[in-house]
Formats: sequence, C-alpha cells, structure tokens
Amino acid sequence: MSDATDATDATEAARATDATAVGIPSTGDPALAALAARAAELDAADDLGKLRERFTLPDGVVYLDGNSLGALPAGVPGRVADVVGREWGELLIRSWDESGWWTAPERIGDRIAPLVGAAAGQVVVGDSTSVNLFKALVGAARLAGPGRGELLVDATTFPTDGYIAQSAARMTGLRVVPVEPSAVPAALGPDTAAVLLNHVDYRTGRLHDLPALTAAVRAAGAVSVWDLCHSAGALPVDLDAHGVDLAVGCTYKYLNGGPGSPAYLYIAERHQAGFDSPLPGWNSHAEPFAMRPGYEPADGAVRGRVGTPDILSMLALEAALDAWDGVRIEDVRAKSLALTDFFLECVEAYVPAGRVELVTPRGHAERGSQISLRTDDAAAVMRELVARGVVGDFRSPDVLRFGFTPLYVGFADAERAARTLGHVYG
Ligand SMILES: Cc1ncc(COP(=O)(O)O)c(C=O)c1O
Repeated sequence: MSDATDATDATEAARATDATAVGIPSTGDPALAALAARAAELDAADDLGKLRERFTLPDGVVYLDGNSLGALPAGVPGRVADVVGREWGELLIRSWDESGWWTAPERIGDRIAPLVGAAAGQVVVGDSTSVNLFKALVGAARLAGPGRGELLVDATTFPTDGYIAQSAARMTGLRVVPVEPSAVPAALGPDTAAVLLNHVDYRTGRLHDLPALTAAVRAAGAVSVWDLCHSAGALPVDLDAHGVDLAVGCTYKYLNGGPGSPAYLYIAERHQAGFDSPLPGWNSHAEPFAMRPGYEPADGAVRGRVGTPDILSMLALEAALDAWDGVRIEDVRAKSLALTDFFLECVEAYVPAGRVELVTPRGHAERGSQISLRTDDAAAVMRELVARGVVGDFRSPDVLRFGFTPLYVGFADAERAARTLGHVYG
C-alpha cells in the first residue's frame, strides 16, 4: 500500500514500504494468525465493545458503512411503533402537546448538543443538511453585514454544499471563492464575509483543523460555517470551546438516526439575536399560534426552524440517541483511532503489494473515522466485498471507503474486512 497524501512523512512512508513487501499472505502464516489473535485481545479489552448490543445488526456481516447510513439502534422499532400506534393512532392531534411533538426539534437538538460540544439551546433539529446549510450560509452573510463580498468555500466540499453555496451567494450578493481548507488562512481578508468548511472530507476521510481554522476566520472578522456530517458522533467537535459561529450536520451517519433522518443547525448563542433566517416559516415565529400576518422571530435556536417537523423520523432519531447514553465522545475517538490503525496494519499484511493506495492521512490529527483506499475497479472490488459480507462503499471514480463506527464495530471486524479484501485480490 502506498500513501497518496502523506508522502513527506519519511517514517510512515518507510513503514508503508515494508508492509507492501509482505505480499499475499498464506493462510498458515503465523504473522497473520497473530493479527487475528490480536484482534480478539483488543476486543476483549475494549470497554465500548458491549455497546454493540444496543444495535440490531445482521449476522455474519461486517458493517463498515456507518459513515453513510448508521446501523439500527435496538430501541428504535419499538419506539416508532409506539409513536405510530399510540401517539398518532390514539392520541391523534393531542400528541402535538401531550407527546411533546411540537418541541421535539429543540429537545432533540439538546440531546445532540453535548455530542458536538455545545451548551443547551443552540442546536435545532429538522430539514436536511442541504436546507440547514442554506439557512446557515444566508444567515452568515447577513450576520457579516454589508461591505464584505466573498464567501470562501472548501474546494473539496461534498457537492451539495457547493451547489447551495452558489445559490446563497447569488441571493446575498457574495462571490464564491473555492479554497483548499489548508489555504483558508492565507485567503482570508477584509472582504471575506463567511467561510464554509467540512470538518472531515467525505471522500478522503481527512480531518481539517477546526480550532485553528475557526480562529483564523474569527480574526479576519468573518463568520465560520462548518459541515459536521462526517465528524459528529465520530470525534470531539467542541463547537463552543472553539468559538464556531454556525454549523450543520446530518444524523443518519454516526448518530444512527435512520435513512433520511432530520439534520441539525447550530447557532452560537451570541449570534441568535442577529440570526436572520432566509426561511422564516411559522415554526420559527415568536408566537406561531397567534397566526399574525407579521413575522417576529422566536428567541434562541428555535428561529432556525421552518415548517411542521417530520415527527416520525424525528422521534426515531430521538430513540436512536439512547445508544449514546453514558458514552464519552473522547472514548469513541480513542477507539476509532485504534480501529483504523489496526485496519491499516491488517491491510498492509493481507493485501498484495501495489493493489491499493492509502488516500486517508495516517496522522491521527488529520484523520476522521474512515479509511479510504484508491484502487483500480473500485466499484467491482466493493461489489465483491459486499458479496463476501463486508459492507463498505465506493466513491467515484476509484475510492473504496471503510467507515469505523466504534459503537458497533470491533477489532475482529477490522481484521476480517482486511483479510477479505486481501482474498478479493488474491
Ligand atoms: C459532508 C456532507 N454534507 C452534506 C450531505 C448531504 O446532506 P443532505 O442529503 O442531508 O442534505 C452529505 C451526505 O452524505 C455529506 O456527506
């Protein structure tokens, strides 16, 4: 395996070269049996290992796609059945009040808040990431005020963010400037109104330096907007501690909210009074049931709401968040790094030399919770892996992605996934 991203790190490069010399393993190779034994030891010593019982996973499958769609938390089906059968079926419209439906967006926001390092009252749940990004970017441009003409946008961003940024810029009279995240400090200036960055790159798994970049944006007098889709639930984000202005994220990846579960918007408390949403629906009104023709925004993160919340998905998400009870995100991060280190070690041992190239940075400070490997015929390789019970995904044109979700993935899973990948090439 060779490194695409950290070619300058001589120690790591030497390690990679040694590993590629291992070649195709024979099944009786004691070094490989040792990896399987190490996996068992690591799993036995893993305090988070028992959390897997909080999820329903199919037997015989190694699930490494929780960075795309998280697994099903065990409590969700029962809760959804209760919401549908009792809260909707029996209580009917009374549930908006009696079952707490109306306040679910801010209540569930407060459940997500500690996972992203936010004090209560700053996170509101609803809509998709794309829609929340639109609110955040237009809101950021309005917070920045007149006299600043540029919106800096992560040049490697997930596509929807780029599309939304273009439209938000058109609406607010800004000019989009694509910038590599590491080049943002040099690109900032008195004309910068806002900066949109991804915390972890969806394709490479690279972790960007949120504390330093946020500080640079603030020093330039601009507004920071972070997309946390690939970091929330995988590593500490510490939004409040680092002075982030606005952030968005989805809940269907590491937060396990289910397919299409609602996203969230973080509005730092100091910006809430000035946050001017471009989608001022009635749910964000100070007195929605007064039904007045004039708009008056509610206080707090509630002003990030738009229309009637999607209650079934939202309450499924609320039940899914029970899987986090008593879990410290720092422990999740430590296990994620150990898992991805171990997976890389196994890939180097099992996969024939030259067949895959590491795209994800090796350095812990630069890595999220996924490993991306570049290979020929990535789509076919992933199809073959899935057929053999190892589920990751592939991103066009040539990247295999393996997401490590420490709440339900163990070291034996990592070893089996790498061994299976080796067999696909063997
Ligand atoms: C970084 C990032 N942003 C945005 C999105 C899309 O969000 P949504 O479909 O919820 O609008 C994704 C989806 O995978 C993503 O990875």
